Order: sequence, then C-alpha cells, then structure tokens
Amino acid sequence: MESPYIIQLPKFLDDRGNLSFIEENNHIPFKIERTYWIYDVPGGERRGGHAYLSLQEFIVALSGSFDVVLHDGDKEMRFSLNRSYYGLYVPKMMWREIENFSTNSLALILADGKYDEQDYIRDFDRFVSKAHEQ
Ligand code: TYD
Repeated sequence: MESPYIIQLPKFLDDRGNLSFIEENNHIPFKIERTYWIYDVPGGERRGGHAYLSLQEFIVALSGSFDVVLHDGDKEMRFSLNRSYYGLYVPKMMWREIENFSTNSLALILADGKYDEQDYIRDFDRFVSKAHEQ
C-alpha cells in the first residue's frame, strides 16, 4: 500500500509577490483530471469522512490552514497544511477527514479522476475491512 507524503512545490520569491506552480506528472505523480476547492467552511466544521477505492489526490492550503487526518486501515496520520508552496499527496484507499479550518481558508484539491460516487467508501468499518484485504 502506498503512503501519503508532503510534496514541496517550486517557489519563486519576488518583491512583487511570490509564485508557485504544479505540473502534472512532474511535481505530482499523476495526471490531473479534476480540480475542486473547499471554501467558506464555518468554524468547527469538518469535511471528508470517506475513502476512495482508486482516486489519488493532492491537497494544498492555498490560503489559511487546516489539518488532514488520514487513516490507512491500521494507523492514523495527521498533516497540518498552512502554506501554498507545499501540499499532501494522498494515495488511493486512505480514509480522510479535513478539520481545524482557519477563517477564510481555501483547500485546493487536484485529483486523477472525474467525480464518481461509485469510487467512494463512506463507511469506516467497510473501509478497514477492505484495507485489510489488500
Ligand atoms: P464530498 O466528496 O462528499 O465532500 P468532501 O469534500 O467533504 O469529501 O462531496 C460533497 C458533494 O459534492 C457530493 O454530494 C458530490 C459533490 N461533488 C461533485 O459533484 N463533484 C466533485 O468533484 C466533488 C468533490 C463533490
């Protein structure tokens, strides 16, 4: 099973304002099929609460901060994202919750597949059983 990891992105520091970027199959290990973002999260709310059977994602805190809590079926891992020049690669079959959103935070998510409800596992016990099959 693949592990999640932090990826540092290119960063051009400039007095006029900084610039970072992401190229598919270069800075991130997949081709981007879909981009979505999570914003206007009310204080104390959480997102996620599911795993994907085959989708891989890359999550960046473009603004503000939040925590991504991952579970691989055996153990939990917590990643705090709070800069726009690095992000978290999340392989398939990872239960995820995103929490502790700061005011005005913006989570950008790049994914290697189109939206497909059939790819979701929304029951944690089913996820753990499935993770142990692999
Ligand atoms: P969901 O993936 O459950 O949200 P979370 O970010 O909390 O994991 O998606 C919430 C709703 O948004 C779901 O009913 C389907 C819709 N949706 C799309 O239509 N397309 C997408 O790309 C995404 C991510 C969600």
